[in-house]
Amino acid sequence: MKFLIKTTSAFILLATIGCSSPKKEQPIKKITSNNSEALSRGFILLENNCFSCHSPNPKAENKIAPSMKNVKESYLKNHESLEEFTRNLTNHVQNPSEKNSKMPEAIQQFGLMPKMSFTDMQLKNIAVYLFETDIEAVDWYKNQYQKEQKQHLAKANKNESPLEKGLEYALKTKSILGKNLLGAIKEKGTAGALLFCNENAFHLTDTVASQIDGVEVKRVSDRYRNLKNIANVNELSYIEKTKTQLMYAKKITPQIQEIEGKIVGYYPIMTNKMCMQCHGNPSTEIEKNTLLKIKELYPDDLAVGYSTDELRGIWVVTMPKEYKK
Ligand code: HEC
Ligand code: HEC
Repeated sequence: MKFLIKTTSAFILLATIGCSSPKKEQPIKKITSNNSEALSRGFILLENNCFSCHSPNPKAENKIAPSMKNVKESYLKNHESLEEFTRNLTNHVQNPSEKNSKMPEAIQQFGLMPKMSFTDMQLKNIAVYLFETDIEAVDWYKNQYQKEQKQHLAKANKNESPLEKGLEYALKTKSILGKNLLGAIKEKGTAGALLFCNENAFHLTDTVASQIDGVEVKRVSDRYRNLKNIANVNELSYIEKTKTQLMYAKKITPQIQEIEGKIVGYYPIMTNKMCMQCHGNPSTEIEKNTLLKIKELYPDDLAVGYSTDELRGIWVVTMPKEYKK
């Protein structure tokens, strides 16, 4: 933290003498938190889960979603305290809807953001990073962060359970899949995007896993579309349990198991409105040409007829046993 504070005062100094020469490395503007762990966790989460769609750079081409700077500014417009900022951000990310939106024009332009199931704590860390740092200085933070990364990670990981670690892998994969799916729908329409999923879903889930030694991430379902995604016995029993919890309006929770010397995490995948164009009611929600393509590509498809807020499937994250520590 010492370094950040020093840099902050250096920045204030520069600002007061009116230094306007373009600086390459932009320092973080204000740090009111003394919680470096929240900042670094928030940064990792943003980098892994949000920047794929929301570029931190407002000048970059933002085809899929508004830039993160834009989001931050809209959220700060009427909400000056960190608490309020966090509450509003959490509301929209946990349940994206017109009702919770502070940027209705973004919904018009890009379509609603897909729902992501982060914990309150994770969203709080994201909010702390967004609120307290200059979002455009993300490269600066990254360099700084990388220097301190070992230390931060060691500290952060000590407090993180395998369940949370697995969730981070699942959400990271989801963010990459989500970005590509939204991009493909926008570019090629629903039927075109279908072909894209058919060719790329596997490859995309692999990319995340292959970056980390010994970690595997996959999506499976009891009502599968692709035969390769059929849930096995253990996965099915988690799916059944979760469906029962949903039926009784109970809170659904991820689960961790040790199987054959590995740690396996299960995380629910819920449907929202966006999914209905490919997984909804075949006669009212799925367009005819999309339905034809589904039948052609997946003759054994069971993954239609869903409504919103149903369990569509689960993420399965397999991790080496060391993660238990
Ligand atoms: C798959 C792409 C995608 C990912 C990944 C994504 N978003 Fe979004 N997000 C969008 C789109 C599209 C919008 C604009 C439509 C809307 O407001 O829902 C949006 C809007 C938002 C808004 C403004 C919502 C409003 O209308 O008030 C916030 C806040 C937000 N995102 C936060 C996040 C955070 C935090 C993350 C990472 C945890 C994230 N997003 C990841 C696509 C994404
Ligand atoms: C553009 C059409 C399209 C949209 C929109 C779509 N999906 Fe899919 N989904 C597919 C296709 C195609 C597959 C099969 C991918 C493959 O071959 O691996 C699939 C597979 C899946 C799987 C893997 C299990 C299985 O059945 O094979 C899950 C889980 C899933 N989708 C969830 C969702 C959720 C949740 C949403 C909304 C957030 C969504 N999908 C939106 C087309 C779509």
